[in-house]
This record gives sequence, C-alpha cells and structure tokens, in this order.
Amino acid sequence: MYHLKCIECGAEYPKDELIYTCSKCDGLLDVIYDYSSIKLDMEKLKSECPSVWKYAKLLPVDREPVTIKEGGTPLYKCERLAEKIGIKALYVKHEGMNPTGSFKDRGMTVGVSKALELGMKTVACASTGNTSAALAIYGAKAGIPVVVLLPEGKVALGKVAQALMHGAKVLSIRGNFDDALALVRTLCSQEKIYLLNSINPFRLEGQKTIGFEIADQLGFKVPDRVVLPVGNAGNITAIHKGFREFKKLGVTDAIPKMTGIQAEGSCPIVKAIKSGAENIKPEKNPETVATAIRIGNPVNARKALLAIRKSEGTAESVSDEEIIEAQKDLARLEGIGVEPASATSVAGLKKLVDSGVVRRDETVVCITTGHLLKDPEEVIKICEPPIVVDAKIEAIREAIFGN
Ligand code: F0G
Repeated sequence: MYHLKCIECGAEYPKDELIYTCSKCDGLLDVIYDYSSIKLDMEKLKSECPSVWKYAKLLPVDREPVTIKEGGTPLYKCERLAEKIGIKALYVKHEGMNPTGSFKDRGMTVGVSKALELGMKTVACASTGNTSAALAIYGAKAGIPVVVLLPEGKVALGKVAQALMHGAKVLSIRGNFDDALALVRTLCSQEKIYLLNSINPFRLEGQKTIGFEIADQLGFKVPDRVVLPVGNAGNITAIHKGFREFKKLGVTDAIPKMTGIQAEGSCPIVKAIKSGAENIKPEKNPETVATAIRIGNPVNARKALLAIRKSEGTAESVSDEEIIEAQKDLARLEGIGVEPASATSVAGLKKLVDSGVVRRDETVVCITTGHLLKDPEEVIKICEPPIVVDAKIEAIREAIFGN
C-alpha cells in the first residue's frame, strides 16, 4: 500500500496517476508507504543474499518485475586505501558490478516494471550515459522501445555502445545534459512516453536498496558515514530514504551521515550546503572529466539538500586531478576499477579527512557508482601507453629490465 506525496506542499496522489511532479506546486514527489502494514521477516532477511528484489515489500511494484538480477553488489573492506587516506575503517560498495555496470540498474528494474504496470508502451530519458545504457537494456528485456537524449560529445564511449547495441533510439543533442533533460520532459508530457529520469519517484525507490544492502552486508548495522558522487542528486536522496526506512521498521538503529561529492566545475549542491542556501543556483556551463556528473541544474536538489542536512552530513567538491588520483588508487591499491565520477567519493573522503571534517575513527562506506570499462577513452588518456616491442625475448627483457 503506497501513494505519492509532494515534498513541498504535501498534496497526495494515487499510485497509478501518471505524474512526475506535483500538479499544484511543481514540487518533487515521494512514494509514501503504510509502514504499519509492512512486516519484515528478520530471519529471512538474514539468510537471503542481497539483491534489489530481496526487499520487494518496500518496493512499489505490483507485477512480475523486469529483472536481469540487479543489486547484490560487493562491499569491499579496503585496508590499503584506508591507510593511504588515514582512516580506520573504509568500505567500498562497488555498484559498477551491477549487470549494466552502474547503480542505475536498481532504478530501472523498478522503473521499467512500473512503465509496464501503467500500460506505457515507450520509455525515454536524458542521460550523461549510464541511465541511457540501463534504460536501453531494461527496455530490451521488457520488449518496449527506448528513446535516449545524450549531450553530444560528452558521453563516455562504453555507455553509448551499450545504448546502441541494445537497440535504443539514440539522439545526440547539441547542448548539455540539463538541456537534454528539459527536452525529454517536454517530449514525455506531449506524447504517451514514460519518463525514466530520476525525477520519476518510482525509479528512486529501486536505488534506495543500496542503503538496505549496505546495512544488510554490515550485519544490519550502519556505518557512521556514506560518501557518494552527486550529479542529478537522485541517488543520495534514495539511499538516505533506504536507511530511514530500515530505521523506521526497527531493522537498524541509526542513519549514516550522507556526504555528497561533486566535481569543482559542476558543484551547485556543494555551494548551497556550504552557504546554507535553501535552493541551488544552477551552473550554466558545468565541466569536469567526470562526464557522468557534468550537471549544472540537478533536478533532485531539494530532496538532496534535505537528505544531507537531516542526516548531519556534508558536501564537498574535488578537482579533476583529485578525481584521477583517487581512480588510480582504487584501481591499484584495491583492484576496484571505476569510472571517473565514481572516484569522486574517495577523492572527497580524502579531502574531508585531511581537513578534519571527517574523523579518522569513523566507519565510512564510499560508493563507486560505475565500472572502469564505461569510460576506456579517459583511461587511455591518463595512463602510460603500452610499450611496443619486437617479438624477441631480448627486446622484452630490455623493456622490462632495461638491459
Ligand atoms: N555516478 C555515475 C557513474 C553516474 O552515472 C551518475 C549519474 C552519478 C554518479 C550521479 O547520480 O544523478 O543520482 O546524483 N548519472 C546520470 C546519467 C545523470 O544520466 O547516467 P545522481
């Protein structure tokens, strides 16, 4: 039992109303459950492996889900990285290990299932890449057409390859992500096409399972802090909700400090948190090597600011150099291959530990949101190229040992 509620004016809407924002005040919507009717079986929760649909009682889908086995991603204890950062207990939740290589699968298994439930025949999104890849793949699994709008020239190669191969109609927009999102919202309001950006409250419900899984994998305890990259600001909101729900249902007894990291060239949420502003000031020309979070006008900003403030978390920005260093550290100290946006979590944690905002005795979970192979071109730019040698043992010895 659930319905939709505006986070600004409190207006309520039935669960099957085709609506993305409040029709009275245009505020963001949240999915509200009757928690008194939800009984979780703790024995079952403790014995089953984590996955998105393990937590189905807390998901707003009333049909067989469209699934390719998303969630259940590893939570690694990272001792070498913790030592480098100077913190006692560090875990990395590697969302790049989802079937399409990013956390977006959690939202899309729920969102595309919802599209079918509502009788929608086509789905669409704007994307910096990962959302489009996930939507193309879940749309293919569901057997419905997919339309994706991408900012031309600013989407990592692996993500475009996925959207193309899985059969989406891919449009490259001469504009940035914020332009593409505005356009797809107009398109979906004019046509019977279901919008699956994170303004869709049902999609975010799938992503809250990251919070459930972190608690689950730590033996139904929560870390002091969760650090993650922030772009359109849906994920931080969703994960906070997951932690809030587990606490409300008595599964856990605390909520971690939600800590959002953005790239310096694209950080309206960080600026609002630091200045104490109620709203963000959109950035017209966002720029960063972390193309996944190259977003100047995050649509879920109001929700994200609440999540950060209510959980007594914070937000920080990092430079492209810091992002690349963290990406290499994850890869070389822990064997965790991530795309640049994902590495912002670790870069941000390092900065916050160095500046004394994060205590060295905290237990921290960093979320790495997308896989290294999403953006091979960036890797080729920042790493030494392969050494070309003659097919002779002497040449190989020379290259390795210099003699
Ligand atoms: N990390 C990665 C790898 C992403 O692809 C995104 C968002 C984020 C972090 C930020 O998450 O938007 O919920 O704050 N990518 C979207 C996309 C915008 O289109 O793929 P957020």
